[in-house]
Amino acid sequence: MQTARPRSWLERNHSEIAIVDRYRLLIDAVRDYAIFMLEPGGRVASWNPGARRIKGYFSDEIIGTHFSVFYTSDEIASGKPEQLLEAAAFHGRVEDEGWRVRKDGSRFWANVVITAVRDDKNALVGFAKITRDLTERRRLEALERAHVASALVEQARENEQKRIARELHDDLGQRIAALKMALGLRGTEFASALPAQTRAERQAVAQIGPQIDALAVAVRRIAADLRPAVLDDLGLEAALEWLAEDFGGRYGVAVQCELDVSEPDLGEFASTALFRVVQEALTNVARHARAHHVTIALKNDGNQCRFRISDDGAGFDPLSVSRPDAFGLIGMRERIVQLGGSLTVEGRPGAGVTLSAAFRLPVDIRTAAANAER
Ligand SMILES: Nc1ncnc2c1ncn2[C@@H]1O[C@H](COP(=O)(O)OP(=O)(O)OP(=O)(O)O)[C@@H](O)[C@H]1O
Ligand SMILES: [Mg+2]
Repeated sequence: MQTARPRSWLERNHSEIAIVDRYRLLIDAVRDYAIFMLEPGGRVASWNPGARRIKGYFSDEIIGTHFSVFYTSDEIASGKPEQLLEAAAFHGRVEDEGWRVRKDGSRFWANVVITAVRDDKNALVGFAKITRDLTERRRLEALERAHVASALVEQARENEQKRIARELHDDLGQRIAALKMALGLRGTEFASALPAQTRAERQAVAQIGPQIDALAVAVRRIAADLRPAVLDDLGLEAALEWLAEDFGGRYGVAVQCELDVSEPDLGEFASTALFRVVQEALTNVARHARAHHVTIALKNDGNQCRFRISDDGAGFDPLSVSRPDAFGLIGMRERIVQLGGSLTVEGRPGAGVTLSAAFRLPVDIRTAAANAER
């Protein structure tokens, strides 16, 4: 029978060295976290490659320096570094999040955990400090908040436009209609009541009717631009057909619609967004393209919606720097991103422009806000 041989001092020491080495190797391998030790007074006592990467100092530059160099001047003035060490010594551990300063003076958003390290007699021998650089995450969170806010602002603006369009149509529109009726009933009386020599006045009165008609048309057009009732009443397909016909009539451009969007319903958010994208794309065609022909294609297969609008006009180079005050393409991109897709702009000078996008269904305001963060 083999008896267990007591481990020699040398063997034990070897295995302890191996363990210490393994820990060192582990800490040296970590690049995403700054892991280092502080002396009880706060001077840096060890340094790992992660700390070098995040904070910019080589170990021989920083070891022996007080760790307050990582803090902003305001926080140094308010005594924050010392307060954190006191809290870690008292509670055993402290966690903090805030701006920290790199060697080159730039700032990063850090998550910091400081843990008090004590020996077997409970005497404080120093602190272990682990720092993570969360700048990118913070930037993405801010972006996400901005996108959620922008989706909600978009929705609020659409609702407000809907309300104004309804007021214009229902209130102003009705009053204009009533005025026209009153003029129709009493207009001849007014005109005949005027003395025969006031021909000019008669003509002016005769003009009031057509002017009221023009006013009614203008009010209807403004209301429809703000929010086409057909989008709410008949849905996206009919609204796009109306838009295409209206555009074709106004600008003498042939607009072909290849639409298959009715089932299942895309929902109000996606329908409004697509309507606005087509509206802006057609406005661009009218303003910049001098095109003869435009095609609007939209297909909804229930799981995915594909969209394309192309013209045969002057075209442009999408890679060329756009004007800082041009928001049309930016707005279209944002709307498509909120739907979960991305807008592709293809174009060449002299060869027309094609805008296309695809996105997954269904989409609502919550998925739109979530999509916007990507
Ligand atoms: N269909 C098109 N044909 C030719 N050029 C186009 C077309 N669409 C866009 N462009 C070019 O791309 C540029 C950017 O378009 P964008 O819609 O962003 O801005 P804009 O129409 O100039 O201004 P706005 O902010 O009022 O929309 C335009 O100025 C134009 O040069
Ligand atoms: Mg535009």
